[in-house]
Amino acid sequence: MTGTSKLVIVANRLPVKHVNDENGARWVTSPGGLVAALKPAMADDVGVAWLGWTGGLDKEERPFDHDGIHLVPVPLSPLERELHYEGMSNGTFWPLYHDKVEPAEFHRHWYDGYRKVNQRFAVAAAEQAAKGAVVWVHDYQLQMVPGMLRQLRPDLKIGFFLHIPFPPPELFYQLPWRRALTEGLLGSDLIGFQTPEGADNFRRLTVRLGLASRQGRHDLNVPCDVDDSIKETTDTRPVKLRSFPIGIDNERYDTAARDTGTIQAAQDLRARLGQPHKVLLGVDRLDYTKGIDVRLRAYKELLAEGRLNAAEVTMIQVAEPSRDKVEAYVSLRERVERLVGEINGDYGRVGFPAVHYIHQSQSFDEIMALYRASDVMLITPFRDGMNLVAKEYVAARYDETGALVLSEFAGAAVMMKDALLVNPFDIDGLKTAIVNAVEMDADEARRRMKILRRSVKRNDAISWARDFLDELEK
Ligand code: G6P
Repeated sequence: MTGTSKLVIVANRLPVKHVNDENGARWVTSPGGLVAALKPAMADDVGVAWLGWTGGLDKEERPFDHDGIHLVPVPLSPLERELHYEGMSNGTFWPLYHDKVEPAEFHRHWYDGYRKVNQRFAVAAAEQAAKGAVVWVHDYQLQMVPGMLRQLRPDLKIGFFLHIPFPPPELFYQLPWRRALTEGLLGSDLIGFQTPEGADNFRRLTVRLGLASRQGRHDLNVPCDVDDSIKETTDTRPVKLRSFPIGIDNERYDTAARDTGTIQAAQDLRARLGQPHKVLLGVDRLDYTKGIDVRLRAYKELLAEGRLNAAEVTMIQVAEPSRDKVEAYVSLRERVERLVGEINGDYGRVGFPAVHYIHQSQSFDEIMALYRASDVMLITPFRDGMNLVAKEYVAARYDETGALVLSEFAGAAVMMKDALLVNPFDIDGLKTAIVNAVEMDADEARRRMKILRRSVKRNDAISWARDFLDELEK
């Protein structure tokens, strides 16, 4: 079972979306950072393939080339979508890995669906990869793929990158299938995490499970039992653990921010808002990990106490629809929308709401105009793997204006110490940080933004992908 691709990317989603509008049915590239990061690696190499789910249901799509990438759809049936995607991925792993800010559910039928879909991805990757190829598996939806793939193809170099946090072993231990999951990940040669903390949590877990011994400060030795030619169980294989904080396509955001169209759109936006003194902005998927509700509560209390005045400030909250078949997302939406209604009822005036709430996904141009039009960016997740919105906002502030309020529990905080760092569980501290951001003088804002911009530029998506692939090839 071998194919022809020298580099195979395996991710839950393909980097394209199917659209059917007045211009006809076609695939368009999704705006995600992962494609931007991997594009340079793909440009030099014709033998690159990307395996993933189209987001559609059970449609047998043939492989196709799009925008210079060979795409191989991996279909999911409606039941598999329910068990693998909505169930195990987003009802078990997502909350468990985000500090259980919502309860994680453990269901055996979800796990069976998860395993089955992971096996399908592993087989598809095995069929696609050339002898000795590099396979790079992504994220929590596919954690068993490395182990399954190694069974099928011991000749491959297998890398895994987790885009979300990896929890402390004390939490992970609740998972009934903890050993199988960890063994799945240990099929990799290199496992990448967003932060050193994630890598360390995983290392402690493997030792606690007795699955690996330490090889160096960060690396592990695992028993080498997948190659039939090796009968001695004392043989071991090294697995490297590293943190690779993911970045954005800095150039794209910086350039778009300076575009005259963006500048005009931002001015129009502020005019439509009634030229407020300060605009506060939140941009998130509507997800309970993002702390949208705590941010709104803080804003509401500041208005009630008169520390912010609705005649001078306004807030825009973009909450992109997400996973709306999962119960916890439905109840979050109700909570957030009730708060928005209360704030506008108490503090809005006709034509001037105190919060502008948008439950729609926004185009790249619309987001750029929002980044340029706002003075304070509010990023308050209870836990977040990285949070790329923080980096996008900074990349858009080419004139070194604007203030960033950033949760300590976002991976981004590790390298963005010059933001106003907050603990989102401490609402009084959050309120103080919001007031400080609104009142920050221009020199202080410039000093902070300069340092933030330097770090975002230096650690961009392209260097992230290159660092990971170089480490894997070593
Ligand atoms: C996070 C995850 C990704 C996921 C994305 C959107 O960023 O790390 O793996 O694709 O959210 O979520 P969705 O469920 O729509 O794929």
